[in-house]
Amino acid sequence: MDKSTLDNRSQGSLHVAIIMDGNGRWAEARGLPRLAGHQAGAAAVRRTVEAAPGLGIGTLTLYAFSADNWRRPLDEVRGLMDLFLRYLRAEVRRLREHGVRLSAIGRRDRLSLTLQEAIARAESATAAGETLTLRLAIDYSARDAILHAARHTASGEAADREAFRRRLGEAYGEREMSPDVDLLIRAGGERRLSDFLLWESAYAELHFTSRLWPDFEAGDLADAVAEFHGRARRFGALPGRLA
Ligand code: IPE
Ligand code: IPE
Ligand code: MG
Repeated sequence: MDKSTLDNRSQGSLHVAIIMDGNGRWAEARGLPRLAGHQAGAAAVRRTVEAAPGLGIGTLTLYAFSADNWRRPLDEVRGLMDLFLRYLRAEVRRLREHGVRLSAIGRRDRLSLTLQEAIARAESATAAGETLTLRLAIDYSARDAILHAARHTASGEAADREAFRRRLGEAYGEREMSPDVDLLIRAGGERRLSDFLLWESAYAELHFTSRLWPDFEAGDLADAVAEFHGRARRFGALPGRLA
């Protein structure tokens, strides 16, 4: 076991990011409308959020809607937005009880005012949570975030990684800087990043599973985390000699 593995375990502060993919295929396989898959996906979110703290996860970032997902049929987009609204309204109390602090990352200006308000309300209602930081990526694009940060880095300003990383957080109104991603999981069988957390995942361990997101269980998360702990992270150095 290398040094970083031990550190991750003792601090209980893993940052796990999940691309929640496969909802549409899950529904289609059952002869149901795609939206039924998204609804079933919301239940998987609940299971995942509840299992995360027990697995040493301190930050969980979930990809709920990409900036490119606006290209989908209007009905599906509307259904998804409605689902986000219902999720936020229904879950706030439960999140609070579990000590979960919720924040949204992504553009807000293209969301309906009602959804913007629901996000703001959920963020302030859960602001004191200390068990888990749950970041929901809605209307999110990593490349847009990087562009935004680059545009807001004044010429002459020290453009070191730390400063740029702060800009990246500011790009999407984050109150606190999140740690780099330790483990990135993609459900649904595809092996691509689809414009998710490109900067923050520079040294993330990648875990791809064919499990469709609505079928994703706490056990799948536990398996992915266990596999992560078995990997030797080197960050470019030699094994066992991490400076
Ligand atoms: C992921 O599931 C959810 C969103 C992108 C909003 P998909 O809707 O992409 O499901 P598949 O990939 O079509 O099965
Ligand atoms: C990525 O899934 C976005 C989310 C899971 C929210 P997509 O289904 O949109 O990704 P592609 O189109 O297969 O790359
Ligand atoms: Mg998909």
